[in-house]
Amino acid sequence: MKRVVAFGPGRVNLIGEHTDYNGGLALPFAIAEGVTVTATAQDGGEIHALAHDFDDETDTFAVAAPPRNGDGWRPFVHGIVAELAIRQGARLEIRGDLPRGSGLSSSAALEVALALALLGLEERDVDRHDLARICSKVENDWVGAQTGLLDQTASLLSTDGHALRIDFTTMETTSVPLDLGDWQLVTVDSGDHHSLSAASGYNERRAECEDAAKRLHVKTISEAREEDADALPETLRKRVRHVLSENARVDATVAALERRELETVGRLLDESHASLRDDYEASTDRVEGTVERLRKAGAKGARMVGGGFGGHVLALFPPDVALPEDARGVRPGPGARLLQDG
Ligand code: GLA
Repeated sequence: MKRVVAFGPGRVNLIGEHTDYNGGLALPFAIAEGVTVTATAQDGGEIHALAHDFDDETDTFAVAAPPRNGDGWRPFVHGIVAELAIRQGARLEIRGDLPRGSGLSSSAALEVALALALLGLEERDVDRHDLARICSKVENDWVGAQTGLLDQTASLLSTDGHALRIDFTTMETTSVPLDLGDWQLVTVDSGDHHSLSAASGYNERRAECEDAAKRLHVKTISEAREEDADALPETLRKRVRHVLSENARVDATVAALERRELETVGRLLDESHASLRDDYEASTDRVEGTVERLRKAGAKGARMVGGGFGGHVLALFPPDVALPEDARGVRPGPGARLLQDG
């Protein structure tokens, strides 16, 4: 029976936060850790899935009728099978080395690995931009998380040693060499895991940005000019200011990387954090404490990453500085790929 092994990496977003659903710019990269799915073709029209990292939990359903219910990791499998209109029955084994809830996007890694493994069994090829959209739809419609396209695009389109500049208006992607030399990027857990308030804060920000775009008669607020926003209520004006300044910081970071000016990259990370804290109001006390601690430990830049309202902090350390014990080093790795086919 045909067997395909697919790997979907997690990601770190270097800069460009809360810009994906606003038609803006971001600069993520895939990391070495991720999710591996082994798919073996089976007769009988069923999917049998086994999740090693979830106490070997299992799930079985008819490939032609993925159920709408299910908890934990199961809706990801149901959604991918449904949205890709998979017809080949299969046994799926899922394992990963990304800590869940770590802000490294284990959800996108799982969606992407499942999609590539199942498409591989059917010898189908789907354009990776389209696949990112399908995986994102699974997250929105099957898992119920209203996230943007950042994570899936980063996992599918990143290349080894590079960050990926994504323009979310055109969906144009450009690989940017991420040469850190002896500098180190790390992530640190703030210890703040209020996932419910994180989800509601995230959805509230999305709604505010939509409101601002409507009032400014633009499709997304990345099309607005800062002076246009002057007439908006203060809160909305601040949200627009964050998105516009963050877009500019993405391109300033690309330019600084081209010139290998890592001090400047650090400064831009600090500015991004200040904007996320003051204009986007997405920080928490514990995130602030973590950023402070990392700067005191010698980081040249530190910022909250991901959806915010808790979660992780990304920091850039210069050479020869001892890293805090709880820091996890992250480096750019290759995007999603098949590890075995046939
Ligand atoms: C979460 C979402 C992404 C993106 C970021 C904020 O990680 O999954 O789509 O919106 O928040 O930049």
